[in-house]
Amino acid sequence: MPAFSKIALFSSLIAYVSAQQAGSVTAETHPGLTSSVCTRSGTTNTCTTKSTKVVIDGNWRWLRNNQANQYNNCYTGNSFDATLCPSNTACAQNCALEGSDYSGTYGITTSGNALTLKFVTRSSTTNVGSRVYLMDTDTSYNMFNFMDSNSQEFAFDVDVSNMPCGVNAALYTVEMKANGGLNTANNKAGAKFGTGYCDAQCPHDLKFIEGSGNVEGWTPSSTDSNAGFGKAGACCNEMDIWEANSISNAYTPHPCKNIVGVSRCEDPVTCGDGSNRYAGVCDKDGCDFNPYRQGNHDFYGPGKTVDTTKKITVITQFIKDSSSNLVEIRRAWVQNNQVILQSKNEWAGIGDYNSITDDYCVKQKSVFGDNSYFVSPGGGLVEMGKSLARGHVLALSIWADHAAHLLWLNSPYPVDKDPSLPGVARGTCSTTSGDPNELINSAPNSSVTYSNIKVGQLCSTFPSGVTIPDSLCGGYIPPSGKFLQAPIRIP
Ligand SMILES: *[C@@H]1O[C@H](CO)[C@@H](O)[C@H](O)[C@H]1NC(C)=O
Repeated sequence: MPAFSKIALFSSLIAYVSAQQAGSVTAETHPGLTSSVCTRSGTTNTCTTKSTKVVIDGNWRWLRNNQANQYNNCYTGNSFDATLCPSNTACAQNCALEGSDYSGTYGITTSGNALTLKFVTRSSTTNVGSRVYLMDTDTSYNMFNFMDSNSQEFAFDVDVSNMPCGVNAALYTVEMKANGGLNTANNKAGAKFGTGYCDAQCPHDLKFIEGSGNVEGWTPSSTDSNAGFGKAGACCNEMDIWEANSISNAYTPHPCKNIVGVSRCEDPVTCGDGSNRYAGVCDKDGCDFNPYRQGNHDFYGPGKTVDTTKKITVITQFIKDSSSNLVEIRRAWVQNNQVILQSKNEWAGIGDYNSITDDYCVKQKSVFGDNSYFVSPGGGLVEMGKSLARGHVLALSIWADHAAHLLWLNSPYPVDKDPSLPGVARGTCSTTSGDPNELINSAPNSSVTYSNIKVGQLCSTFPSGVTIPDSLCGGYIPPSGKFLQAPIRIP
């Protein structure tokens, strides 16, 4: 599950951008965050530094009257101004997104190749959470193509030691446009102002989608004083490389069916809202690999094999078969100069997988009793791979979960099920943890630091000097007799 926006509340600040126009009261200066592109020759890795930077999503920004010398809000708290935003089109024409004070307002700081996101930042306003995108220029997102042989491996370091139960540090990619949808309908702001978000939950909390407002049918959130939900949602393929805190972690492909890029959904079925969860265009559950949920309770956490009290290197590999279809997503770890292989599934009937393949997903869904949307026709890793090949934007966020208190990541869930049943226990957090309105007071200083982002050929992004098992540097190894059970077919 991806981020729900927590929007900063602005009163009467002075900033200036245009509606989904671009404002100019506050200069938009993107914090630098270098990243690397790596190659491997023999056993030697060479990485080249890129001057990438980050931009905060438009939904967090001050949205103001676009007229010169008019500073009234188009949006306050969790409601739109009825005069400036009488309709979706008028709102996009009348309102401007403003530049951001990254550290002061949003608690976003960078240094070299490191980015820190703070959970709650109090200034003249209170900001909760944030979501930024990696850019290669001041007007375009840095595109990643994990299906290209030169960029099948992605690495980053992360410090989640200050991330308690209920707070999610997410690093993931979504099929947004490189220019953020600039010049689509009334979008004059574009990637420079962090526009164009979409994900596989088809989020309804976005104020603009594809250059048009989402004001029609907007309903303020009952639990979040800074958010609301419009009639429209923004759907797109999503690859969750990392959703984690100090207690639990998961990686999860969320493919969508028959959509390319951002797709605006307008009805509850297409959007997959509520009871239509498995009828929509995107796979909201995805196929997750959470070591704890797969039965290994000693692998990840404070003092465990992967010790979350210290910085961790996380490596993800996208493996193709001879037809260039995505067939496996692997995870490896590096800590204390040692490569740590991902823990294996321990539940009977799934097999000793330590990576995501369609076969793992079929069996995991069956044994856990989860919905089989992921492995239904038109879904699965092949669909995820097609989307990745079109290019994805990297999102980095910190958030808390108003909908389900993050229990799906770090607690027994659903809460009414016996935690000893396969797939219910996902981490050691209490089922009463994770209420965002409590966390804002009890854990406001939670923060995550992401650093050392690298992309490159298989095995090229590992730190130099570590011994890498051969099995990680080659291509796809089809399943052999090692699995305990023949695939269970799910229609
Ligand atoms: C968060 O940090 C601020 C500033 O250092 C401090 O005053 C405050 O007590 C901290 N809050 C909590 C709940 O730890």
